[in-house]
Amino acid sequence: MSAQILDGKAIAFDIRQQIKHQVEKRGQNGKRPPGLAVILVGDNPASQVYVRNKRRACEEVGFHSELHQLSGDTPQQELLDLIDHLNAQENIDGILVQLPLPRQIDEEAVIERILPTKDVDGFHPYNVGRLVLRMPLLRPCTPKGVMTLIERTGEQIEGMDAVIIGQSNIVGRPMALELLAARCTITVCHSRTQYLPEKVRNADILVAAVGRPRFVQAEWIKKGAIVIDVGINRDEDGKLVGDVDFDTVKDKAGWITPVPGGVGPMTIASLLENTLQAAELHSNQA
Ligand code: GUN
Repeated sequence: MSAQILDGKAIAFDIRQQIKHQVEKRGQNGKRPPGLAVILVGDNPASQVYVRNKRRACEEVGFHSELHQLSGDTPQQELLDLIDHLNAQENIDGILVQLPLPRQIDEEAVIERILPTKDVDGFHPYNVGRLVLRMPLLRPCTPKGVMTLIERTGEQIEGMDAVIIGQSNIVGRPMALELLAARCTITVCHSRTQYLPEKVRNADILVAAVGRPRFVQAEWIKKGAIVIDVGINRDEDGKLVGDVDFDTVKDKAGWITPVPGGVGPMTIASLLENTLQAAELHSNQA
């Protein structure tokens, strides 16, 4: 039996259509389009691609979007000043600083400078804290997109065993909090984890975010499991592959996300949802 494919590309398209419709409705009610400011520091090629895709999605749904491109040697204070300016700007609902940042800049200081209601990445300690307390406001985009994918399986996940490989602030940790809030039993694995295959064998839901091409093997997978692949890697031949060995795991899993076309488009769809949510928060404040 082959797994059912969780088609992130198609689901993200649906979400963009819904958002586009809501932006039009806002317009009919005399509200301005949601606005996203994206800040890119330096010339990391992967970051350039991500930023281009995010801005293209904004255009598609009718958001205002602006790109602030800073050179790789920008002093931290200049970036903080730009964030202060965008925090005060009325037509901007979301501020996204693409990570990673160059070495001279303290990532935490930058994230904390963003107004929590404009933190559409959901990385500010205020938003992370709200997620911990099960009263989320703006939720980190990749884990939020993964939860949307899991909902689309139609499976009741309450009480399921969920295993997450990866403990980053962007994916692994908030992913664990999302699944815990959905009443799963969670295990978070990382580079020091012992007996990883045994832990993965217990997973009804597996989320792989390790950054190693085809790392997760079919022998580790529980039959029928929901397998979510957050990885985006190039293999030795330059082919884009995930953290999961898709070709063999698909014969064991119940559901699986492809790479590309799985989690990636969902991350961007969640960013659009967050920006719309922030715009609604701001118009209710006004
Ligand atoms: N770098 C890798 N993923 C992300 C993300 O989701 N948001 C930001 N701002 N930077 C990233």
